[in-house]
Amino acid sequence: MKMQKHGRMVFAGSIGLAVLAAAVAGVRPTQAQEPTAKDPALERTREQVKMLDDLYKNAVVSITKNYVNKQDDRPAAMIAKDVFAAMEKKGWHSARLIDATGDPMNEENAAKSDFEKEAFRRIRAGEVYFERVVGEGKDRRLEIATAVPVVMKQCGACHGGRKVGDVLGFIRYDVPVR
Ligand code: HEC
Repeated sequence: MKMQKHGRMVFAGSIGLAVLAAAVAGVRPTQAQEPTAKDPALERTREQVKMLDDLYKNAVVSITKNYVNKQDDRPAAMIAKDVFAAMEKKGWHSARLIDATGDPMNEENAAKSDFEKEAFRRIRAGEVYFERVVGEGKDRRLEIATAVPVVMKQCGACHGGRKVGDVLGFIRYDVPVR
């Protein structure tokens, strides 16, 4: 019974990946430089960001659940920003927590670059994932935006008027493709 459940999960996961790969490959199938499923470095980078995204988001939820009880407590978003800065300083990747409501808690978190502004529009329109490949050869980078919804009631304690499921923002990743 357990095995079967596990098997189904793996199956569902590979369908998800296949759909993603097909969607990406389908953007401009005739151009060789476009990302395809046959681009292992790009696939590895996507996988890396998927892992980071789970790590960061689970950390934010865990910090909020365990330490954030009232409005003047230090929000998990600030811890996330500290960690993003440390990771960037080490040369791993750049990540930013960005507002998608049009009314950020901190103006610094408004969308700035072209990619961020495009992601802002798409995430607000209901997309949960958006990516773009920039540069060529050794300088190739993957920019990714993943939606940040209100995942628990506590988020609304500070982000007034938002309820579980509402989109608050997104994390923007900028990762070298190696
Ligand atoms: C204790 C109050 C508090 C709680 C609880 C809280 N936040 Fe925030 N959040 C803030 C503050 C303050 C900022 C601005 C931080 C900064 O950049 O200085 C912020 C920033 C953000 C941003 C960046 C956009 C913006 O508005 O500046 C997102 C996205 C975000 N929070 C999502 C969440 C999510 C999701 C939750 C629930 C897991 C949550 N927050 C819980 C206070 C809170």
